[in-house]
Amino acid sequence: MKEYKNVHILDHPLIRHKVAIIRDKDTSTKQFREVISEIATLMAFEAFKEVPTQKIMVETPLETVEQTVVKENSIAVVPILRAGLGMVDGILTLFPAAKVGHIGMYRNEETLEPQEYYCKLPVGIEDKVVMLVDPMLATGGSACDAITLLKKRGCKRIKFLAIIGAPEGVEKVHSEHPDVEIYVSTLDRCLNENGYILPGLGDAGDRIFGTK
Ligand code: PRP
Ligand code: URA
Repeated sequence: MKEYKNVHILDHPLIRHKVAIIRDKDTSTKQFREVISEIATLMAFEAFKEVPTQKIMVETPLETVEQTVVKENSIAVVPILRAGLGMVDGILTLFPAAKVGHIGMYRNEETLEPQEYYCKLPVGIEDKVVMLVDPMLATGGSACDAITLLKKRGCKRIKFLAIIGAPEGVEKVHSEHPDVEIYVSTLDRCLNENGYILPGLGDAGDRIFGTK
C-alpha cells in the first residue's frame, strides 16, 4: 500500500504482541475484551499527540509554573456499534473527560453495504476533535458512512482509529475522506470473498460480546 500523510500504521512491538492474542481463535471472550481495550489505550496515546491544548498555571509546592494541558471540552469519542464499544473504556482510561457519542451500523452480509440504525452524538460535537473508533476496517464502507454522518453534523476534525485494517479499507477511507487522520495498529493482507479481513480475527463484535 502507498504511504499517505494522514494514514498512520502504528506497528509497535507491544501492540503486535497484543494483536497476536486477539487473533487467536482460542482467546476467551474475557481476554479478548480486555486486550481490545488495552490496544485502544495504546492507540489513543498516539492519536492524542495532536489535540487542542491550552495553557494553565499550576502551583507546585515551590513556585507557579505555566503548563500545557488538553483543552477542556475538546474531545469526543464515537464508537461504531457494536464492536467499537470495546475500545471506548480504553480511551477513557487515558482521558476520562471525553464526551461519548454512538453510531450504530451493521454490514448487510450479502452486499457488505453498511446500514445505519442509531445515532446519538454529544451536543457541541462540531467543535470537538472526534475520535471515531472501530476495531475493524474491512471494505471501509462503515467508516466512510460514519465519517460522512459526522461531517453532516458539522464535525471538522475527525480521527479514525481501527485496530486491524485491510489495505482496501484504508485506501477507500483515505480517498473519500483525505482530511481524516487514520490510525491503524496493524495492516493486514486483504479481504476474503465474504469481506472478512485476512488473517484478521474473525467477527470482532461477536468476539467482544460472546454472541457466537
Ligand atoms: C464490523 C466492524 C465494522 C465493520 C467493518 O461490524 O466492527 O463496523 O464490520 O466492515 P466494513 O469496513 O466492510 O464496513 P459489523 O457490521 O459486523 O457489526 P457489529 O459490530 O454489530 O458486529
Ligand atoms: N468485520 C469484522 O468484525 N471482521 C472482519 O474481518 C471484517 C468486518
